[in-house]
Amino acid sequence: MKDKLDQLKSEASAAFAAAKDAAELEATEIKYLGRKGLMAALMQGVAGLPSNERPMMGKLANEVKIAVERALADRRAGLEAEKRGAIATSEWMDLTMPGTRPPKGHVHVVTDAIAAVTGIFEKIGFTRVRYPEVEWDWYAFEALNMPKDHPARDEWETFFMAAPEDPKLGKMVLTPHTSSGQIHELKKGKLPIRMINISKTYRRQSDVTHVPMFHQFEGLMIDKNISVTHLKGVLDHFAKEFFGHGRKTRLRPFHFRFTEPSFEIDISCDLCGGTGRIGEAKCRICKEGWLELGGAGMVHPNVLKACSVDSEKWSGFAFGWGVERTMMMREGVKIDDVRHFYRNDFRFLTQF
Ligand code: FA5
Repeated sequence: MKDKLDQLKSEASAAFAAAKDAAELEATEIKYLGRKGLMAALMQGVAGLPSNERPMMGKLANEVKIAVERALADRRAGLEAEKRGAIATSEWMDLTMPGTRPPKGHVHVVTDAIAAVTGIFEKIGFTRVRYPEVEWDWYAFEALNMPKDHPARDEWETFFMAAPEDPKLGKMVLTPHTSSGQIHELKKGKLPIRMINISKTYRRQSDVTHVPMFHQFEGLMIDKNISVTHLKGVLDHFAKEFFGHGRKTRLRPFHFRFTEPSFEIDISCDLCGGTGRIGEAKCRICKEGWLELGGAGMVHPNVLKACSVDSEKWSGFAFGWGVERTMMMREGVKIDDVRHFYRNDFRFLTQF
């Protein structure tokens, strides 16, 4: 029995040491140490020995088993180390090599324009506000002196929300212009006011100068003894700061229900250099060298009344311009279709 045990010990140790990979090691383990393996068979043989031989042989058998198990563990650790060594030589990397930088993005050109507009007005004391993309009819139209069914409302080409009507405020709409911000500010009752509301606006329109979702910036100044001269001064200041000294703006008499007198503001077109023509063709985006950027005027007394502001004591002006169109007219930008802003074409966006 002793010889058999010694032989198993040396045979099994040699077999484990010679195993080339994990599969061979497992097969060898089953052969020697498995439940029906050679070690188990010898253990059974020991159990069948006469009782005077059993303790000594039992002790020896246990020592053999421990030695064989150690040979298995040693080889397993050896194989693991060989595997790690192979990975270290085949998969190493140079940590000192410069990394690959992900492409660096930048803010959208319209976000950039909004920041520029905000900066110009903040410097002359206007506070930036913003209002939600949905609005009640009362704020969007009625308080702005456009009663229900007034034909002027058609010009706003409004999107109506599928939402329950409010008994006092009427239908809910996608904000069609930032002028509703005037009402929100006036209703706060904190006078005087110098606000610049820049928000998203929506209309059912799409062509070279119209997109269904666009941004407007709305100025409102309410104080004592405010006149058209102040309005002209503020708009000229903005035009000079944003477009540079070489460009011309003009006020054209117009009609808005919420201002009196009312104007439209045009800028000399940068795409055609104010000539209205590009080569032989007519300029695609302007009318005879001028592009309309927005409306303006002196706040109508009815608007002040709707917001419980004493129109005998307070007066003011308001203006509302399109951000996208304003950006289109910036020196050297030369965009011939406002829809480019929202086509998400990288070739366009990365130019800014
Ligand atoms: C208004 O929206 C008035 N609320 C402006 C106003 C404010 C007048 C305060 C008086 C006092 P209008 O519909 O003309 O006016 O739009 C103003 C500007 O928004 C336009 O000149 C244009 O620059 C821009 N705009 C209007 N519709 C679109 C559109 N669909 N896509 C891009 N820009 C637009």
